[in-house]
Amino acid sequence: MSKVTILNSHDIGTLLDIPAVIQVVKDAYAEKATKDGEIWPMVYNAFSETADTDIRSGFLKSKGIFGNKELTWFGNNSKKGLPELHGAVTLYSSETGAPEAFINAPALTGFRTGAAGAVATKALANPNTETLLMVGAGGQAAYQIMAQICVLPELKQVLIYDPMSSENAGKFVQELPQKLTTLFADNVQTNQPTLAAKIKEQIKHIKFIAASNIIEATKNSQVIVTATPSTKPLIKAKWIQPGTHINAIGADMEGKQELDTQLYQNARAFADDLDQASEVGETQNPIKENVIKKDDVTEIGNVIAKKVAGRQDPKEITIFDSTGIALQDLEAANLALQRAKQFNVGVVVDL
Ligand SMILES: NC(=O)c1ccc[n+]([C@@H]2O[C@H](COP(=O)([O-])OP(=O)(O)OC[C@H]3O[C@@H](n4cnc5c(N)ncnc54)[C@H](O)[C@@H]3O)[C@@H](O)[C@H]2O)c1
Repeated sequence: MSKVTILNSHDIGTLLDIPAVIQVVKDAYAEKATKDGEIWPMVYNAFSETADTDIRSGFLKSKGIFGNKELTWFGNNSKKGLPELHGAVTLYSSETGAPEAFINAPALTGFRTGAAGAVATKALANPNTETLLMVGAGGQAAYQIMAQICVLPELKQVLIYDPMSSENAGKFVQELPQKLTTLFADNVQTNQPTLAAKIKEQIKHIKFIAASNIIEATKNSQVIVTATPSTKPLIKAKWIQPGTHINAIGADMEGKQELDTQLYQNARAFADDLDQASEVGETQNPIKENVIKKDDVTEIGNVIAKKVAGRQDPKEITIFDSTGIALQDLEAANLALQRAKQFNVGVVVDL
C-alpha cells in the first residue's frame, strides 16, 4: 500500500500562490534546457468535435518525481450545467515508483499557465511597462492578469478585450479587482504577508478597463496576453508598436491562431517547447506560411538558463508561444504536495 495525498480545487486555491508558482515554472523551463527534466510524448484523442483528452507526462529528476496530467474537455457539458474541463495530475516517486498524489488539474492549470506568461514577460518585456492588454476574458484571464501584475511593477492600467462579447468583458472587469484580491493576493498572505500587502496595494492603483477597440488597445499596450480558442488572427502586425512583448497562450492545438503571421517577420520568437509549439502552438502558423523556420524560434528555457540573451533592445518586438509542458504541471503539483504535507491539507488514502 502507498499513501496518496488527494487535493481538490479548493485545496489548490489554498495551497498555491502566484509568486511561488512563477518561481517553480521558471525552474521547469530551466530544467528543460539543462535536461534536468524530461518530457515524454504527448497523447491526444478526440472523441468527437466537442470532446477530447490529452495526457502530458514527464520526469523531474532533481525533485525525485515523475507523473502525468490528463485533461478532458467535453464542450457539451455546459448545456448540462457541468464544467467543460476536468482532469487530474498524478505524481509518483522516482525512488520507489509509488503514487504520491492525485490532484485536481483545472485549478493547477490556471496557476501554472498564468505563471508561464509571467516568466516570459519578466525575461522578455520592457520592465517599465505601464499598460497591459488582455485578449480574452475566460477561465485563464484572471490568472494571466494576476501573474503579469506580479512581474510588472510599473503597471498602471489593464485593458481587457473579449473578441466575442463586450458585455462579458464589462462583467469581467467589474468582478476583477475583488477576484484578484481574494483569489490570489489572500493566498500569498499565508506564506509571505509582506509580499501580499504589496500586491494588494498594487491592485488598488491599477485601472481595469473593458476595451471595445482592439486596434487602439493594441497600439497603447506594451505587453499583450492572448488567451482565447480563436482560429483566426486577432492581433494584426500593423497595430503593434516597437518594444511590445506578446504572450500567445491560447493556441494549444492544430488550427488555433491568435496572431497575424506577419507579426513574426519583425519579431524575436520564443516558445516553451519547440516541437510542440511548431505543431500545435501559435508558432505552427508562421511556419506553415513560410514567414519563419522552426530554427528561428528559441526555447524560453535557454533564456532562463542564460544560454541565450532575452530582450536586447527596448524597441525589439518579442513573442512567447506557450503550449503548456508537463514539467510546469509537475513542478506546480509538487509545490502543492509539499505544502499540503506541511499544512496538513487534503485527504491521505492508503491506495
Ligand atoms: N498554453 C497553455 O498552457 C494553455 C493552458 C490552458 C488553456 N489554454 C488555452 O487558452 C485558451 C483560453 O482558455 P480559457 O479557459 O480562458 O477559455 P474560455 O472558453 O474560458 O475563454 C475564452 C475567451 O475567448 C473568447 N472566445 C471564445 N471563442 C472565441 C473565438 N472563436 N475567437 C475569439 N475569441 C473567442 C471568449 O469569449 C472568452 O473571452 C484556450 O484555447 C485553451 O485551450 C492554453
